[in-house]
Amino acid sequence: LNLSFMSSQAYFRTVELVQEPIPGSPGLSFYFRINGRPIFLKGSNWIPADSFQDRVTYDTLRLLLKSAADANMNALRVWGGGVYEQDEFYDICDEIGIMIWQDFMFACALYPTDQNYLASVRAEVLHQVRRLKSHPSIILWSGNNENEAAISTNWFSIPHAERERYIRDYLMLYVKNIREIVLNEDRSRPFIASSPTNGLESVKEGWVSQNPYDTHYGDTHFYDYNNDCWNWTMYPKTRFASEYGFQSWPSFSTIEKVSSAEDWSYVSNFSLHRQHHDSGNVQMLQEVGYHFKLPQGTDPVKRFKDTIYLTQVMQAQCTKTETEFYRASQSEIIRGEGHTMGALYWQLNDIWQAPSWASLEYGGKWKLLHYFARNFFAPLLPVAYEDQGVLYIYGVSDLHGDQKLTLRVVVHTWGSLEPVCTLAKEGVIVKAQSAVPIYKESISDVLERCRNCTRKSCVITFCLVGEDGLQSPTNHFFLSSLKDAVGLEKTQLSASVSKQDDTYIFVLQTTAIAPFVSMDVGSIKGRFSDNGFLMTEKKKVVVFYPWEPTSVEELENSLTLTSLLDVV
Ligand SMILES: *[C@@H]1O[C@H](CO)[C@@H](O)[C@H](O)[C@H]1NC(C)=O
Ligand SMILES: *[C@@H]1O[C@H](CO)[C@@H](O)[C@H](O)[C@H]1NC(C)=O
Ligand SMILES: *[C@@H]1O[C@H](CO)[C@@H](O)[C@H](O)[C@H]1NC(C)=O
Repeated sequence: LNLSFMSSQAYFRTVELVQEPIPGSPGLSFYFRINGRPIFLKGSNWIPADSFQDRVTYDTLRLLLKSAADANMNALRVWGGGVYEQDEFYDICDEIGIMIWQDFMFACALYPTDQNYLASVRAEVLHQVRRLKSHPSIILWSGNNENEAAISTNWFSIPHAERERYIRDYLMLYVKNIREIVLNEDRSRPFIASSPTNGLESVKEGWVSQNPYDTHYGDTHFYDYNNDCWNWTMYPKTRFASEYGFQSWPSFSTIEKVSSAEDWSYVSNFSLHRQHHDSGNVQMLQEVGYHFKLPQGTDPVKRFKDTIYLTQVMQAQCTKTETEFYRASQSEIIRGEGHTMGALYWQLNDIWQAPSWASLEYGGKWKLLHYFARNFFAPLLPVAYEDQGVLYIYGVSDLHGDQKLTLRVVVHTWGSLEPVCTLAKEGVIVKAQSAVPIYKESISDVLERCRNCTRKSCVITFCLVGEDGLQSPTNHFFLSSLKDAVGLEKTQLSASVSKQDDTYIFVLQTTAIAPFVSMDVGSIKGRFSDNGFLMTEKKKVVVFYPWEPTSVEELENSLTLTSLLDVV
């Protein structure tokens, strides 16, 4: 008797990777059609959940994957620099609806192709495809991470005369062996040789494209830590953004467990040692410095905590800007670019307690970015951006039906909880599975309409509201850097906590507008319904979902409330 057979689950789905001409644009599309519908992939990249795989339990995986789903993600890329995940990982993804872009485990390197090595790769790939192909969560096999790009842009300084040999090795490994095995074993899902790639165009160019980052084909990886990340013009209008991101530091409560008092400074040996990305700590401060005053306090621990907070605010706001740009680019072609159909930021989870691009800390605690992701990946979202002095708002929807909605736009001065002007545009149509312009006004008109406003003294918030309770998150648009904001007053934040069934209700009060309100309950495991938000109303109700037993008293005693003006 085979018990595992008796407990197996059946799921159905189809998947196609659509690469076809787009009217008005050179190149080819690159998107997934799932069960006959084009689907915008929203999510992140998965790395190993621990340096020691035997410490990774079913509960570890479930918590991380559930956190992805709770942040409105529908996809993860299992990165080729990590491990083939255990069966339970894919079981959970099948169950909760996370689609997997599965890399084979080859990354950022040139691999040999002698017979012994190839035999070992063939055995491994055959085993993994047979083990995993029954999981409907997997929607794509992908040969490697960044090795097409590494050859085409010569990361490893290969002398020109030897280039052909490395291309031959590349074809031998990924095309003649890995691809052959995949095609023999599993024709139910697409295969690409690398990420980033130009897809069919790369194939046409002999599998190593001249520029695998071409925005008109395939997927792209994009990182830039030098330019101002609030400025959307720096981002590539790609067909599919499969890697992009910014670093931040994990919470003090996470770091505290692996450090001692002499480590608690941004420039300590500990802080340098934990940073494994060259110049990472400096780059974070540079991005923070574009829009915020850097902490100047004389208490070193307070200064460290303020810096941690600001790196998390920066990471959340930068990744929000970039992701919203990709989502808003899904239905249009501008100067030949667009039809973006995926946004998978780098990276979901952490392998240890350290600064990184992750939105979930080691142990599972949500960084501010993960709360932002829950909003910027919401099924219905208004997105604002400015182009040449004009404010545009797009309605972005993953819903399967067209919606008739009301767009509410509210302007506040930083100094008052009373709005200076509000506007409700009714009968706004946001079409199913698309991003459409729904509002346009020059910034100077907005400032004039809302008397007494300047770019520095006012802030815009907006949301979409429908009948029968449909509502988008409230989004914000800053008219200037927050370090230049005029009129912000230090607020008095307070919270009352009560228990309701299995959750805890935090009623938060503020005496003034408070940007980036962070609620932190230290090492108590769980997550809030929202965090890091801009508070423009006196009161906000936030739910805490505990992951282990706790109490009102414990939560009250652990709670720290921080907003921007608490940074000194
Ligand atoms: C964004 O960057 C572009 C190109 O560098 C520049 O022209 C524009 O002024 C920038 N916008 C803002 C708001 O800084
Ligand atoms: C950092 O480590 C070096 C080498 O171990 C040591 O000489 C130095 O004093 C340390 N610096 C601090 C600030 O602890
Ligand atoms: C604009 O400022 C003036 C002077 O401070 C004030 O009297 C007036 O009420 C303000 N108008 C609005 C719409 O806030």
